[in-house]
Amino acid sequence: MDSKINKLNEQIALAHLGGGQKRIDTQHTKKKLTARERIHYLLDEGSFEEIGVLVTHRTTDFGMDKDIYFGDGVVTGYGTINGRLIYVYAQDFTVFGGSLSETHAEKICKIMDLAVKVRAPIIGLNDSGGARIQEGVRSLGGYADIFFRNVKASGVIPQISAIMGPCAGGAVYSPAMTDFTLMVENTSYMFVTGPNVVKTVTNETVTSEELGGAHTHASKSGVAHITSANDVECLEDIKKLLSYLPQSNKEITQKLSFKLEDEIRDVLSDIIPDNANKPYDMHEVIKGIIDEDSFYEIHKNYAENILVGFSRIAGRSVGIIANQPMYLAGVLDVNSSKKAARFTRFCDCFNIPLLVLVDVPGFLPGTDQEWNGIIVHGAKLLYALSEATVPRITVITRKAYGGAYDVMNSKHIGADMNFAWPSAEIAVMGAKGASEIIFRNDIASAKNPEKKLAEKEAEYAEKFANPYQATQRGFIDEVILPKDTRRKLIKAFAMLENKMVEKPDRKHGNIPL
Ligand code: HXC
Repeated sequence: MDSKINKLNEQIALAHLGGGQKRIDTQHTKKKLTARERIHYLLDEGSFEEIGVLVTHRTTDFGMDKDIYFGDGVVTGYGTINGRLIYVYAQDFTVFGGSLSETHAEKICKIMDLAVKVRAPIIGLNDSGGARIQEGVRSLGGYADIFFRNVKASGVIPQISAIMGPCAGGAVYSPAMTDFTLMVENTSYMFVTGPNVVKTVTNETVTSEELGGAHTHASKSGVAHITSANDVECLEDIKKLLSYLPQSNKEITQKLSFKLEDEIRDVLSDIIPDNANKPYDMHEVIKGIIDEDSFYEIHKNYAENILVGFSRIAGRSVGIIANQPMYLAGVLDVNSSKKAARFTRFCDCFNIPLLVLVDVPGFLPGTDQEWNGIIVHGAKLLYALSEATVPRITVITRKAYGGAYDVMNSKHIGADMNFAWPSAEIAVMGAKGASEIIFRNDIASAKNPEKKLAEKEAEYAEKFANPYQATQRGFIDEVILPKDTRRKLIKAFAMLENKMVEKPDRKHGNIPL
């Protein structure tokens, strides 16, 4: 009996040490940390408590009864990050490629259930070949059990996924339903089917990196929100991201201590170029408004014509959405609308106030946009902002043209405070385009049409290329000097802190997905 217990103790110690005992020396694993090392780097020292270390799979087919590892390819449990409770699972690629068995899924579900009951974030460190092929439908069922919980937890607790190795099949769908997906550069991939299947089915030759590497998903598909150079940086990025988030939808993010001092920022006065067609970097505006070095950009390389990210203003966590005139003149298109809509909904779920900085010439015209559904995608952003009940403030720095004026957090769709800089131009369209349409006959019949167009353009600009008509109507609450922006925002966000909104009695709305 004693020797049996000793053997078991030995095996438990091994399980705690290394996860799977099988080591795989592929190009993917060389630079990778083990599942336990990842948890070690992620959590506060000594805070990890493991759940289910002795779980093993129940499969006997294909000789699997001889291939048994404690933990069954996933380390699950809870611990703290900067003193805050979090739940975590880390898949172990050295055990059947981190593939998901019925029991592997049960372990993940168990901590997901706890996380929702206790209302604390859950972090998944994914490194998995998908459904465990030897288990058939039982592993598919396991995935569905996880997906179902992802949905139940959505908007209740923050769910963060890190992709830290090759993830295929079902292994990509749970991350896709969580709030944020981080990918490690060069060692992680996400695809529904890998290059071999792609070759067989479509005869397309593609590498794993091209098909589903971090760069691809961060810039082309938008599946990845953040990319990190290596495992350790990825874990640091998770901690940073968490610092802006509350534990659950029942809380607000803890405020950092802040003392009001001289909040005037002269640097903001020199950002807008004299020529309205010249670009400038909206990052400079953000920098001049927020607490020092506090902007954490999400989806940095995707739909760069709009910026989204978390920041702090007077120690408060805020979400920022901002048109970026440096790319496509800051126009709204399919991808930027989706990006900003998704971010809006996350902030609204988790009580994070929104600041919207506007310099937008309108929606991008053209067949590419129309055929790809700009109507429905633009509507996503319109819907998401209209529905958001968190404190919402807008600052128009320059252009706010056409439908994009309405969409970008206008007063009409429920923004609480709307400011404009004196350089703001709020109109149906730019002065040139507008004059060409409404003064077409005058211009055509003029002796010098070019001169006439210039005159009419100046006339239109005088009337509409400013923020004053909108301010007279109350659509803008105040025209403010750029250098006063930070001070105004600090006061306005503090004023809105206790905002409460009654929601209509309905099951849920029907956002144009
Ligand atoms: C069982 C698996 C496995 C799986 C990998 N392994 N994936 N075992 N089930 N799904 C095992 C391999 O047999 C191998 O075992 C070890 O893990 C390492 O795998 P390698 O292929 O050597 O590693 P690598 O070259 O890095 O390639 C990783 C990979 C590839 C790209 C993930 O293994 C792969 O394509 N796997 C299959 C992916 C897949 O089709 N999954 C099922 C999807 S269906 P040994 O013993 O040789 O070391 C799915 C349905 C859910 O998930 C749908 C929900 C919507």
